[in-house]
Amino acid sequence: MDLEILGRALSTLPADDDHPYRTGPWRPQTTEHRADDLEIIGDLPTDLDGVYIRNTENPVHPAQQGRYHPFDGDGMVHVVGFRDGKAFYRNRFVRTDGFVAEQEAGRALWAGIAENPVKSERTDGWGARGRMKDGSSTDVTVHNGVALTSFWQCGDLYRVDPMSLETLGKAEWGGDFPSNLGVSAHPKVDHRTGEMLFFNYGTDAPYMHYGVVDSSDKLVHYTDIELPGPRLPHDMAFTENYSILNDCPLFWLPEALAAGKYVSRFHPDLPMRLGVLPRRGGGNEIMWFDAAPTYVLHWTNAYEDGEEIVLEGFHQETPEPEDTGDGSLYQRMFRFLALDRMGTHLHRWRLNLRTGGVTEERLSERITEFGMISPAHTGVPHRYTYAATGLPGWFLFDGLVKHDSLTGVEERYPLGEGVFGSETVMAPRIGSAGEDDGYLVTMTVDMNRDLSECLVFDAQRLADGPVTRIRLPERVSSGTHSTWASGAEIPGWRTADRPEDAVGL
Ligand SMILES: [Fe+2]
Repeated sequence: MDLEILGRALSTLPADDDHPYRTGPWRPQTTEHRADDLEIIGDLPTDLDGVYIRNTENPVHPAQQGRYHPFDGDGMVHVVGFRDGKAFYRNRFVRTDGFVAEQEAGRALWAGIAENPVKSERTDGWGARGRMKDGSSTDVTVHNGVALTSFWQCGDLYRVDPMSLETLGKAEWGGDFPSNLGVSAHPKVDHRTGEMLFFNYGTDAPYMHYGVVDSSDKLVHYTDIELPGPRLPHDMAFTENYSILNDCPLFWLPEALAAGKYVSRFHPDLPMRLGVLPRRGGGNEIMWFDAAPTYVLHWTNAYEDGEEIVLEGFHQETPEPEDTGDGSLYQRMFRFLALDRMGTHLHRWRLNLRTGGVTEERLSERITEFGMISPAHTGVPHRYTYAATGLPGWFLFDGLVKHDSLTGVEERYPLGEGVFGSETVMAPRIGSAGEDDGYLVTMTVDMNRDLSECLVFDAQRLADGPVTRIRLPERVSSGTHSTWASGAEIPGWRTADRPEDAVGL
């Protein structure tokens, strides 16, 4: 392995830290690495060609008021690239305005999500709540050959080189980026059209907007979506002709909000409203459907089936888990992050465009979340979903599941005690001839051996275990979302000697 240290960030975290989301599998990193020619155990398929990029929440300072929540962490992105039968790795902080300001100050300047915004040292900020730092640590997607990192509420999109991970600045969309509200965590790329679809939300009417960015990075559509009040949507879906937005009955209590307090509550007496509008339609064209009350953090896909829109995602049995008094203080405080406490199940909604009716069905009795499908099937029918199982009580993934929606059969790969994975992507192999003709790629945190690996599975034989293990230079932190981009999507991919030499960005 050819290893170089690219940089080190200042960390003021205490040596005796006991916060479970800043220690153990969530131990943040401060060092940035360049590693080429990584050691490969097993056979690295030569038809695996592209990059696996993963975002992590990587704090470097104690929380301003002592109540750190993992969503407050600074974004650190990791990339494992596969090219010509070799693998490379980079990890870099996203140089957000907030990260740079706090590096200069040597301390946290903004209140975290579990802290009092009135006491925030900096009174500016990002997010629908405001007075928060945009850590850009939630999702990462690739659009027009550039990786974009995002914030879990609404914030800027940071442009990151998908090979070197250097921060290139913020998305501007020719000056039309909606900087007053930002963009929500999960903008969606349609690989067929090259478009990116997104929404944002805030505390002022109309409370939501929806937009489309085209394949030349221009904002070509932006419309008001009127909601009954401030909401906290996280994700959206799309089909060939429609976008699907949501108004889930989990939102800030209006009376508390009027007093400047942000208290989110589930309202089991209200339906989950699903809004379907033409991809370039105005907000007045949206058609709302009422489904049974729940909160959906992540959708896996949507597609059209005759007069119906089929929507799949993770239904929560208990969007607001009770504090039963069991477990440690931290386990009780972060019960909202544990898949078993929320009871997340793969679920299907059918929205009938003619009758306005909704039918629902649970697709799996297993508790999973963070599901991915083949990128070739977004917006059109799919058969396979690849999702994570969770360690009970914690925000940690202890295994992978491949769900076959045609047969209902599930194939599982447990990572083993003390080993945790990340959101797992499906990477079609070059010349892929079927939906699962490719590889599953994930990144582990192995607490037994104090290291991290990138694992590659044959997507048709998940239960057989990884075909390739690639050791990373340092144990990474557990984290959030990831993405796959094929080499064909990345400028300079074929011609650059090293990722830093890529041209075109
Ligand atoms: Fe998310």
